[in-house]
Amino acid sequence: MEKINIWIDCDPGIDDAVALAMAAASRDRLHILGISTVAGNQTSDRVTGNALKLASFLGMDDVPVVRGARGPLVREVEPAGDIHGATGLGNCELPATTKQTASESGIFYMYSRIMELPEEEKVTLVPTGPLTNIALLLRTFPQVQARIEKIVLMGGSSSGGNVTPAAEFNIWADPEAAQMVFAAGLPTVMCGLDVTLKSGLNNGQIEELCRSRRKVEQACGQMLAFYLDTTRHEGEENMVAIHDAVTILYLTNPELFSGRNVSVSVDCSWGEERGRTICTADGQEQKVYLLDQVNLPEFQWVLLAKLRSLS
Ligand code: RIB
Ligand code: CA
Repeated sequence: MEKINIWIDCDPGIDDAVALAMAAASRDRLHILGISTVAGNQTSDRVTGNALKLASFLGMDDVPVVRGARGPLVREVEPAGDIHGATGLGNCELPATTKQTASESGIFYMYSRIMELPEEEKVTLVPTGPLTNIALLLRTFPQVQARIEKIVLMGGSSSGGNVTPAAEFNIWADPEAAQMVFAAGLPTVMCGLDVTLKSGLNNGQIEELCRSRRKVEQACGQMLAFYLDTTRHEGEENMVAIHDAVTILYLTNPELFSGRNVSVSVDCSWGEERGRTICTADGQEQKVYLLDQVNLPEFQWVLLAKLRSLS
């Protein structure tokens, strides 16, 4: 089966770390062109350091990691230290790495690698943080749009937020970037809170990971135990939503999910509606496939099997 070319843009971040683990476990299906970082869950320095350590820890030393935007297009960085901890990975100490960024000018590097693909090939962009880099890429190099198959993003919600009652964090952090990305009209799969709050692991499954002798399972268990504690206000009792992992599992196991076609606009005000994603199924061309259902037992089985395969 043909591999899917992907580029991951992330702000690790605990659930970003699990998404990277899913990708690392799926290289028979995914050709990972590169990983770029964006300030979001933590500062650019911290998320970039985390991405380098995670790439090495997960056996992806061959995958280039580049530093993207140091902050949103217009607004200030407001790291979510209360959710992902001071380091961005909870209280998990990953081994140090000698891996360096392949570029400190992420979007130029992203553009070059995408344009180097064979003429008949395209890339699927997988953003799991604020959409700053994606917006900059599309605006700086409009010609790259012809090489993008689709965007599978974690962000938004058709019914209320997590960082505020109105908005999901990735969109709230950089609403202008999100508006630019949705307005570009590229085929987009929106893995928003509608589906991600139903997609995670329960306490017992996390405790089992923590007891594992396998290093990747143990590290993810430790991060998720921290995340379960700091996100109790979100979603379902006794389950930690692993938001970003939905993007990768949608690519490897699309049968786990279902949704509906919508068009999406973003509230870019500065008040309490900031970052709300307005999702409508009216007559306009609906370029966004919004996921809202998941087969949870199957999602959990696939996620745990992929973690098991890495250690
Ligand atoms: O709202 C969840 C999203 O915000 C996830 O991507 C998480 O990592 C944070 O960035
Ligand atoms: Ca993220």
